Order: sequence, then structure tokens, then C-alpha cells
Amino acid sequence: MFQGKSIVLGISGGIAVYKAVELLRLFTKAGADVHIIMTKNACEFVTPLTFQTLSGNPVHTDLFNLSQEQEIDHISLADRADLFVLAPATANLVGKIAQGLADDLLTTSIMATKAPVLVVPAMNSNMYENPVYQRNQKQLVEFGYHVMEPASGSLACGWEGKGKLPDPVEIFAVAESVFTPKDLLGCHVLVTAGPTREAIDPVRYVSNYSSGKMGFAIAAAAQQRGAQVLLIAGPTDLTVPVGVRCIPVFSANEMHAAVFGHLENIDVVVKAAAVADYKPVDSMPQKMKKTTDELTLHLEKTPDILAELGKQKEGRVLVGFAAETERLLAHAAEKLQKKNLDLIVANDITQEGAGFDVDTNIVRFLHANGRVEELEKMSKAEVAQQLLNQVALLWKLKQP
Ligand code: CTP
Repeated sequence: MFQGKSIVLGISGGIAVYKAVELLRLFTKAGADVHIIMTKNACEFVTPLTFQTLSGNPVHTDLFNLSQEQEIDHISLADRADLFVLAPATANLVGKIAQGLADDLLTTSIMATKAPVLVVPAMNSNMYENPVYQRNQKQLVEFGYHVMEPASGSLACGWEGKGKLPDPVEIFAVAESVFTPKDLLGCHVLVTAGPTREAIDPVRYVSNYSSGKMGFAIAAAAQQRGAQVLLIAGPTDLTVPVGVRCIPVFSANEMHAAVFGHLENIDVVVKAAAVADYKPVDSMPQKMKKTTDELTLHLEKTPDILAELGKQKEGRVLVGFAAETERLLAHAAEKLQKKNLDLIVANDITQEGAGFDVDTNIVRFLHANGRVEELEKMSKAEVAQQLLNQVALLWKLKQP
């Protein structure tokens, strides 16, 4: 999402400046070209050299520095930005923006930009609660600035309370969300992700290699595009994306019950989960002992959740996944048709960079009307965005 985008990271002076280093790293890792503006006070906490080294760009500190002005002026920084992120934003900075003061490079650039601005306040909890500060913050929201809530906890000044800079990972997620067109606003999306585990006994199970990465990426991207997202996830190590409600499940039967128990108002279902197709007929209540040389497990079919959804579609957009090892298009097309889907995402898991437990995927989209789109190898986050472009269109077409 941030690949090739220009982000201005505005840093004002507070102990939380050190966290802006991590935030910068997240933006650059995502492919953004980050330009830093630091206030004089911010430079007292972390040197501009740190930010310069990590961003690969000169750090801007002074409105009247001629050598900086020859290369770039405050207007061109403001013009160039696709997004402004102010982290940490002190009470002083918020107050100045709210009152229209532009007396340094940062406030002048903010005044001059037409890019969205995300303000991430951090300060002492008493300052945060001060009615003057609260009035200024409210003023920013009314002007259309995006303002994040500070986190609570023990503050550097010794106080306990609200005023901490949120975790950089959270700031990054909110920045993504600010930046994303809200084409799924009002849409209720249910995503399933991860594997299911079918118990053999209390310590063993039948499962597969699914990591859940693809489904979690879809849930995060849908939330950023304005959807209300419910994620029903089998066991994974992943962190639930910010703003997404998650119901953890274990087995295919539990996933089935969770999906059908939460279908009301759902407009779109994306079934990225790798549901185990079979489960042991009898799950043993106690740990099985190795008393024989051979062991036969009797398995029975689990419910096909997606096929059932296809039989009672009720206007919902249904998206399935087909992870195949051979005859990719034929198998995927058959599932699309048999399960009554609008779209199926097909991937050949034998290809390098596709399938389980990697961060990339190589997919094809097969549409119900026969159209096939072939995508290059890309990150799962990017696949999620491409998929949601299609989902947004399908959802809009189904609306009365
Ligand atoms: N699926 C499901 N419930 C199942 C099995 C699969 O909802 N019990 C969904 C998956 O989430 C996926 C799609 O159906 O979106 C296709 O899953 P896949 O395992 O590729 O296909 P199957 O229908 O199980 O067929 P097969 O295993 O024979 O390829």
C-alpha cells in the first residue's frame, strides 16, 4: 500500500520520539519514501542523524536553512506528501495547528499540505485531560485531521494514565487505514482463516500446514477499507489486526457453528481457511497408548462450510480459495461452480513463493462469469487488496 508513496513523518519533542524510529522502520519496510521533519525540541531526544540514516533522506529541521531550502522548500514537502503522520504530537503542536499558527518548518508544512494528516498525541496524562488541550484536539477532528487516542499506562514523567504514544505497529495500521479508500464502508465481511485441528485424543490431531497469513491479511485490508470485519480463525500464531473482531475456533465443526451463528447481516464471506476435510470418527477422551504395531484411524467427512453457504446464499458475495498441487484451473473452476461462488482464488502451492507459511502468493482469480485473472507473485497483503478490489465491485453490484 505504501510502496513508492511519500510520507512526511513530523516529530515533535517528547520522550516518545524514540518510538518514531520504529515507526519510520515500518514505513520504509513497506516501501514508502519517508521525509522527516523534526522540531527543535525533538532533536534534543534523538539526533536527526538516526532518522536520516534510517530514512535515506535528509532530515528537515529548519525553516530558514539555506542549504535545505535550495534542495527542497516547505511547500514542496507539503505538496509531495501522500500522507502526513505526526508522531509524537505534543500538546504544543496540537495547539498550534488548531489555532492556525505556522512558526516553524513542521507547522508551516502542515498548514500548506492537502494530504491527509494523522495526529498521534503523546504527553503527560494531566496535560492530555486539560480542557484546553481537549478543545484543541476536538478542533483538529472537526477540521478533518485524523487523531489517534493515546495509550494508557505508566508515563515517563512518573504518572499513570492516558498519554503514551501507541505502539508503532498500531500507528502503522491506523496510517494504512487513513490512506485507504473506504470502498467497503457499510459492508459486513466474514473472513475465515488458518487451519482446523481435528482431535485424535487430548494430545494429537489431524491438520494441515495453513498459517492463516492470507486470511488475516484479507481481514486487515477489509477493515482498512471501511468494512466491519469478523474473523473466524483456526489456531495460528498471528496477531488479530487492529479493529477486527476475532472468534478463535479449533475444529471444522466449531468453525461451522461460528460461521452459521454469525451470518446475520453478513454481506461478504471470504473462506480463506484450510478446513480439514476429514476428522477422526471417535476422538479418544484419554491419551492413546502405543499398544499395537499398526494403527488405523477411522475418519469421517467434516461439514463443507462453503458448499453449505453456497446453497443458502441470500444475496451474499461468496469467495472461496482453492489450494491445488495439480490441474489448478480445472479444480478451481469445478469448486467455483459446485459451491455456487462469485469468485475463487486459485493457487498452485507447489510454486515457489505461493501457498502456506510464506509471505507471498501467486494467485489467479476465477470469476463466476468465466473470467480468469492471473496475478504476478506479490505479498499476501497486496493479494488481499487486489481481491478486495473485486469484492468491492461484486458487493456494489448486489446492492439494491
Ligand atoms: N471449505 C470449507 N469447508 C470444508 C472444506 C473446504 O468451507 N470442509 C472451503 C475452503 O475454505 C476453501 C474452499 O472450500 O475456500 C475449497 O477448499 P479445498 O480444501 O481447496 O477444497 P475441497 O472442497 O475441500 O476439495 P478437495 O480437498 O478435494 O480439493
